[in-house]
Amino acid sequence: MAAKAGKKNPETAASSRKLVLLALLVGLAAGVMTAALLAIIPQSAPQQQTIGKAAIGGPFTLKDGAGKAVTEKDFAGKPMLVFFGFTHCPDVCPAGLQVIAAALDELGDKASRMTPLFITVDPERDTPEVVDKYAKSFHKAIVGLSGTPEEVTAAIKAYRVYAKKVPDEANPGEYSVDHSPFIYLMDARGEFVRHFSHGADAKMIAAEIARVIDAGQTAASL
Ligand code: NI
Repeated sequence: MAAKAGKKNPETAASSRKLVLLALLVGLAAGVMTAALLAIIPQSAPQQQTIGKAAIGGPFTLKDGAGKAVTEKDFAGKPMLVFFGFTHCPDVCPAGLQVIAAALDELGDKASRMTPLFITVDPERDTPEVVDKYAKSFHKAIVGLSGTPEEVTAAIKAYRVYAKKVPDEANPGEYSVDHSPFIYLMDARGEFVRHFSHGADAKMIAAEIARVIDAGQTAASL
């Protein structure tokens, strides 16, 4: 009995040590998990900022070059570059479209994995056919969109674009349209990522588009 008891005690001590070790391991694991959670929190902080950004973009109904009604759903699943302007624009729009065309060339094969849109702010003169032909004169991939004045106004409002018809002082009876020159980058879910100002570098825009394309691919494969 004594020998048995003597034999039992070290066993008990050994299992106590095992329990202490187990507790330490559990504690360590909990610590690692907490650290991992803390590491995740700063990453999710920028997502909270997109709640404010989400005000830019949203549903629209417009018409493509063939006069067919299109909505944001027709472009879902791919990032979009959205630029508002008009075909009579003397400088800002041609410059913006040239930069978009250069960014598309820079993207190469990857350009087919996003959609560049040029939406008119001048539906009176820019019919769907006119605006699409104009957009494609800069790059064949650019989709020109127009619509009824109401449809265009709704799209302008959705993207918080400033656009105002003003008399053309040089040509009495004619008009121009003052408008904001921003190019908007939307992700594959149609959510606003960032805008590019007038004069932004095509290579930088291409790099940002590539980043959003790659991020979408990562999210889809997870
Ligand atoms: Ni313009």
